[in-house]
Amino acid sequence: MKRDNDKEFGSLLIKFSNLIGLSALTTILLLFLVFIFRLTPAHTYLPDFSQVFQDSAPNEVTETVGDDEIWKVPDLASLPATPEGDQIRYGHELVKNTAQYLGPEGSVLHISNGMNCQNCHLDAGTKPYGNNYALVASTYPKVRARSGMEEDVTKRVADCFERSLNGTAPGKDTKEMRAMVAYIQWVGKDVKKGNKVKGSGLMDIEMLNRASSPELGKVIYIHKCQVCHGEEGEGMKPQGSAVYVYPPLWGENSYNDGAGLYRISNFAKYVKANMPLGATYDNPQLTDEEAWDVAAFVNSMLRPNKNISNDWPDISKKPFDHPFGPYTDNFNEEQHKYGPFQPIITSQGK
Ligand code: HEC
Ligand code: HEC
Repeated sequence: MKRDNDKEFGSLLIKFSNLIGLSALTTILLLFLVFIFRLTPAHTYLPDFSQVFQDSAPNEVTETVGDDEIWKVPDLASLPATPEGDQIRYGHELVKNTAQYLGPEGSVLHISNGMNCQNCHLDAGTKPYGNNYALVASTYPKVRARSGMEEDVTKRVADCFERSLNGTAPGKDTKEMRAMVAYIQWVGKDVKKGNKVKGSGLMDIEMLNRASSPELGKVIYIHKCQVCHGEEGEGMKPQGSAVYVYPPLWGENSYNDGAGLYRISNFAKYVKANMPLGATYDNPQLTDEEAWDVAAFVNSMLRPNKNISNDWPDISKKPFDHPFGPYTDNFNEEQHKYGPFQPIITSQGK
């Protein structure tokens, strides 16, 4: 009997210890789950792991996700069938197919070189880092150092007509100018004043610590650009057509030397995220170095000249890569055009 009792007590003990083991295991598991899913703040029951798990601190994660969100473009299809909607749609059409309406054989006016706004403002100014219009609505009117004046969107569009399209701008009260401005304002309508937006404008690239080289750039051009933009940078249009399939990069039908792309930093940034055709900011096809060198090559070739004697009334505000003197520093035009730029930037204290 005693033996039986002992036996019973023994098996009871075993059961009991099993139970303790099981519940301990469950507790550990629960704690672990709670910690993983952060049902309660971990610091209330666990030692401070923030040093160890710094990367997964919940607040940081949310913030990074927010910052990483690429700019969202409003949907053209959501435009209502109203006169305002029609105006924006016409503006979109003009930005996309500028030559068809306003080029050398345009159906409305003959005031520009045959290029389209969209050639440089890709997907009608909506492509991430494709020189898009994300920040225009929220930042204009603004004082621009190039003119020394406050400029509204109309003036900025006129600038691209006179420089990038080497022509003249439609009058500011014309149907065409109003439509383009309405479209550009609409594209950036969801961006709040003062907000930075990932994907806006052009992509930043690394500076070179040497001058960028037209000679090295020529080799890149021949291998990676010439097939579309042509041996003479003349671009390509089907015979009998006034509309380019591949726009020109230099020569009489290209942007003039007062244009934004004539500064090689702008050219290199544009090319890095967008060329050869098909490249994107997250799938670029050129190294930063190649982008600088091909920019140097293309901008060393002949193109129309623009009288820009009224630009930069305050010469101390000229950007480091503005290729025309006089300057307030002692670097020559050659170095301002091709670099190395770091010494110039350092001397400007920027
Ligand atoms: C040859 C290339 C090219 C063409 C074509 C071109 N642009 Fe531009 N545009 C640029 C560059 C480069 C900039 C930025 C210049 C800078 O920051 O110095 C720019 C800037 C702008 C801006 C200001 C953007 C901002 O965020 O401040 C507007 C608006 C604009 N262009 C509209 C137009 C319109 C409208 C057309 C067609 C009529 C056009 N552009 C054609 C190259 C071009
Ligand atoms: C497969 C054809 C193709 C290749 C290769 C190509 N591009 Fe382009 N490029 C285009 C097209 C098309 C556009 C106009 C895009 C649009 O209108 O949507 C363009 C536009 C441009 C523009 C702005 C408009 C202009 O004419 O000034 C520049 C600058 C440019 N390309 C530079 C280059 C450089 C530099 C290379 C070589 C690294 C290159 N491209 C390779 C097809 C090409």
